[in-house]
Parts: sequence; C-alpha cells; structure tokens
Amino acid sequence: MSLVRTRQVVLVGFMGAGKTSVGEALACRLAWDFVDLDAEIVRRSGRSIDAWFMESGEQAFRVAEAEIGNDVLREQDVVVASGGGWAVEAGRLAGLSGDTVSVWLDVDASEALRRVEDDVSLRPLLSGEGALRKAHEMLNQRRSAYGLAEVRVDTNGQSVEDVTSRVLAILETREREQKPNE
Ligand code: S3P
Repeated sequence: MSLVRTRQVVLVGFMGAGKTSVGEALACRLAWDFVDLDAEIVRRSGRSIDAWFMESGEQAFRVAEAEIGNDVLREQDVVVASGGGWAVEAGRLAGLSGDTVSVWLDVDASEALRRVEDDVSLRPLLSGEGALRKAHEMLNQRRSAYGLAEVRVDTNGQSVEDVTSRVLAILETREREQKPNE
C-alpha cells in the first residue's frame, strides 16, 4: 500500500500498547522507515532508559525525549513509535504537521502490564510494588492527552497483525476521503 498525502505516522499510547511492534509491522507494510523513540534515545545517548531515570531523573529524560523526538519528526516516510510519555506534553500532538497522522493505540492498564511484565527495565515508572495501581492512575491521567490523537485504535485482545491492518485500513480511508487540496 502506498500513501500520497500522509508522510509520517506517529504512534502514541501507554506502555504496553504495542507501539513498537505495530510500528515495525506498519513501516514494513508501507515500505517506510521505522524509528522507535526510546531506542533512538538509547542509541544517541549511549545510556539505557533505566539509567536515564535512575541517574538523571525523569525531567532530564523528558528533555532528551523532546529534542530527539523533534529531530526524528523531521524525517519523511517514517513511522515513529513514541514513548508512552511523549504525547502527554501539552501541545505535542497539536503541533504535528498536517501530513502527519497521530494514532493512539489504546490499551487497558491490566493488559498493558501483562504485555510489559517481562521487560520492566524499559519502564522504570512501572517497576516495584503496586504496578497495577500505578498503571491505572497514570493511564487515567494521560487518557485525555492520548485522546488528542487523530485516530484511536482499541488494541485490547488484538494481535499485532490485527492492529496493523486496522491502522492501515484507517489510513487508506482517510486518504480516499481527503480532497486533493487538503
Ligand atoms: C514511558 C514509557 C516508556 C519509556 C519510559 C517512560 C512513559 O516507553 O519512554 O520508560 O512515561 O510512559 P514505552 O511506552 O515504549 O514503554
């Protein structure tokens, strides 16, 4: 499938929403590049996500995430899997360019936690005791920010393939429905 009016797709949503897996599959189907923002932060800084949080603190991580995110979003024909906190910053989704489609991969807290329990080192915010309570609270606080994405796809009980096909179908419909000068 090829898109004409869309030049970037940004996946947002909570930890465990499937942003990386769906992003990879989506980029493959579109024959576009794929960038995972967390992986890019680790690659450029030479530090793990865990190290960022433990040694420099969340605020410093957010600054790096914002800077590297801006840089990555200069690319064209790219699917970007953002980190779960990226879209939470005020104005972030509203500030995307007109040829970027933002997609919220929605997931319940309990399913999110099930999906990430093998790899909490990438998610220091969910480590330790009371992870489910923390996930519920965080998701409730963030829901309205994620809801500013142009498209929402429910991923609960869905495979990566199902979600990817759903996103592609939405992108295709969106392209068809847009007038040529939009
Ligand atoms: C975070 C999500 C993580 C990572 C960091 C903070 C968050 O990314 O950026 O641990 O604040 O939700 P994923 O959403 O890819 O797990």
